[in-house]
Amino acid sequence: MSQQQNLSDLEAKLSALSAAEGLALIADRFPGKVVFSTSLGQEDQVITALIASQNLPIQIFSLDTGRLFPETLDLLSRTEAKYRQKIKVYYPTTNSVEKLVGEIGINGFYESVENRKSCCFVRKVEPLKRALAGNEIWITGLRAEQSANRSEMKLIEWDESNQIIKYNPLMDWTFDQMIGYIKEHRIPYNPLHDQGFVSIGCAPCTRAIMPGEDARAGRWWWEDSKKECGLHAR
Ligand code: ADX
Ligand code: SF4
Repeated sequence: MSQQQNLSDLEAKLSALSAAEGLALIADRFPGKVVFSTSLGQEDQVITALIASQNLPIQIFSLDTGRLFPETLDLLSRTEAKYRQKIKVYYPTTNSVEKLVGEIGINGFYESVENRKSCCFVRKVEPLKRALAGNEIWITGLRAEQSANRSEMKLIEWDESNQIIKYNPLMDWTFDQMIGYIKEHRIPYNPLHDQGFVSIGCAPCTRAIMPGEDARAGRWWWEDSKKECGLHAR
């Protein structure tokens, strides 16, 4: 059976299942080869709870860029404690960060889209590649509602740039559904969400948004770009 046929079959199966059931199916189908990347965002906190509550053998990891909010790192620690679940943390390589900062300056990402993408590459994209190496499935918290770009993404798809199958179990969840789930299950979340922050990334590149503003308007707000860092290139 071709890779495409396998993916279509899997997609048909997964679309009839809940996110919890889908995660269990994937963990069962690809033993030892499934990883989940958490940014500690609300979507990711739901997925961590779904993995932990079913005790699924899925490796959870996070990319610490070195520029995250202290609230995010605090949440990582609280989440590990609450769910008794280890979150493996990946870091950018020292030499690459030193070279980057030497070339563009400590906050050089504000100066051009090119500089910003170089920073995202060194601090996120390269560590992600190390985290995904040797695995078959990469789980993310992407939701279609988050942006026009993401509305074209699928529940499960082949990620050409990382050469891995990407499973997005919350792809069809609405924002309200996600918040309802967090409240109902008392899932820990970043206190910055209560201060108007919606999508949270690195501290210098994230700000709170006004009610009614686009969910990703607070990310790289000075740019008129697609507002993607390269993790989810298409
Ligand atoms: S980003 O590309 O703009 O940074 P976003 O914050 O919306 O992504 O998160 C989308 C998904 O990308 C998350 O659900 C998570 O799977 C992954 N992700 C983003 N940032 C990180 C991070 N720092 N560590 C691990 N995974 C991340
Ligand atoms: Fe660098 Fe900002 Fe990208 Fe973080 S979000 S890696 S600080 S450019």
